[in-house]
Amino acid sequence: MSTQTVDAVYYDPYKPEITTDPYPVFRRLREEAPLYYNEEFDFYAVSRFDDVERGLNDRETYSSGRGAILEIIKSGAEFPPGVLIFEDPPVHTMHRNLLQRLFTPKRMNALEARIHRICAQCLDPLSRSAGFDLIEDYGAHMPMRVIGELLGIPEQDHGSVRDRVDQSLRTEVGKPMAFNESNYTGEGFEEYIDWRAKHPADDVMTELMNAEFKDETGITRKLTREEILTMVNVLAGAGNETTTRLIGWTGKVLAEHPEQRRMIAEDLSLIPQAIEEILRFEPPAPHMARYVTRDVELYGRGVPKGSVMMFLPGSANRDDRRFTDGDRFDIRREPRPHLSFGYGIHACIGRVLARLEGRVALEALIRRFPNWEVDYGNARLSPTSTVRGWETMPIFTGSASRPAASAAAAAQPGAAAGPFTIDGTWKVTVKGPTGPQSTTLTIAHDKGVVTGSQSGQGESSPILDGKLDGNQLSWINQISKPMKMKLTFTAEIENNAMTGKVKAGFMGSFPFTGVKD
Ligand code: HEM
Repeated sequence: MSTQTVDAVYYDPYKPEITTDPYPVFRRLREEAPLYYNEEFDFYAVSRFDDVERGLNDRETYSSGRGAILEIIKSGAEFPPGVLIFEDPPVHTMHRNLLQRLFTPKRMNALEARIHRICAQCLDPLSRSAGFDLIEDYGAHMPMRVIGELLGIPEQDHGSVRDRVDQSLRTEVGKPMAFNESNYTGEGFEEYIDWRAKHPADDVMTELMNAEFKDETGITRKLTREEILTMVNVLAGAGNETTTRLIGWTGKVLAEHPEQRRMIAEDLSLIPQAIEEILRFEPPAPHMARYVTRDVELYGRGVPKGSVMMFLPGSANRDDRRFTDGDRFDIRREPRPHLSFGYGIHACIGRVLARLEGRVALEALIRRFPNWEVDYGNARLSPTSTVRGWETMPIFTGSASRPAASAAAAAQPGAAAGPFTIDGTWKVTVKGPTGPQSTTLTIAHDKGVVTGSQSGQGESSPILDGKLDGNQLSWINQISKPMKMKLTFTAEIENNAMTGKVKAGFMGSFPFTGVKD
């Protein structure tokens, strides 16, 4: 009962033109093709919230036992025991119950102080810089250190484990991921496991070795070495890349919604709901696949047994049927469960930890750098067909930030209104198409009117139409070198730093930062 009707809308999880911004396609899928079939890669997809939730909860019809990634299911690969994300009950239930005993909310929440310290170690050395890479200098480190310490992987090896995990998910841009068995066997972890067996410690690896449980045949036993290897491998993979991507999305989405970022900086208690909204809006795992175990009918069309069904949380999370005006980012929206951690028996085991890491990462960032701009010219999405997010994301943070303690004070409502004045000389750096360009801005303000001059490129000219409204500053600079052009600056001031955009005529807009001399 196959129905390969050709849909007018096209979707696949590989095409960069789609994956860069999948949301217009997701909207069309929900409206025009709620059951979608892709002939080229031979898969079905559902995109509406109710369909995704229902399907992920129907483990009998939609099996993970052949993999949860389209290309893995297609490859017909078999996996060693312990890759629980690709298992069905009863084996899955047994492995999952075991892990859940170790990943309790209590144990995860006890990590908060440690995560704060790791974030501070990453960010404090950057506090005097005008910018850094949110992924390479921050987001890629903390999750690996946390899961590495939990598992008991020596610190000097965290970088190589992370690189190996990242590498295992890489694809050639626009192409499906190639199946490689060694990505699942836990190759590379043998040494740690053998060492831990001789030197037990207070970590998950030791507990996995010692845990006794009743297996699917009713026998009470311990995990085999092979199972421990694959489970450690799954945890190191699942607990790392996704959270790094969440930190990248936090950087991007809040930079694009500065008014909501300001609300958070002024009231840190908004952070948990901000992280939930970022997870809903930009889920790091926007789709998962299942093998269809029986003929199904959806929207009057047949999905034959043996097909692959893609479930699209990335689309479901923006379904207007569930979330009012789903494409709008709003940290104040009424909280409703999203599907970014999956649903049903495979729902993410690490979600308490992931949320905690996301919250602490944002708090540590915004306390030190209340404003930032993304350097899109140099930011790059990661080439994977599974996890979606940024591989590099350079940001401009303005100037020397305040130390964490004083930032906390400044983040209190009203604190920014202290004795600080914008009057004086600022070093303004525009990140233009040919590299950074520095100018000097000398200004004074009176009742919201800003006057002064700007110099650079061997010329100086008075600024025009200068305005200060709260902490929003704007002005125009008419330049003649290297060509005649009107530059319109708009910035947000935070103590001795400003960040904003300059509109440079036909050349477009560029980010800039300013530091008070
Ligand atoms: C923002 C971060 C994270 C996101 C978005 C995320 C997302 C997900 C999703 C969508 C699934 C379900 C996959 C499916 O149904 O096929 C999943 C499963 C899983 N996640 Fe996470 N995850 C995150 C962080 C973590 C962390 C930190 C850990 C480690 C402790 C972890 C461990 C796991 C495991 C072990 C599974 C498999 C569960 C099973 O099959 O029963 N995840 N995750």
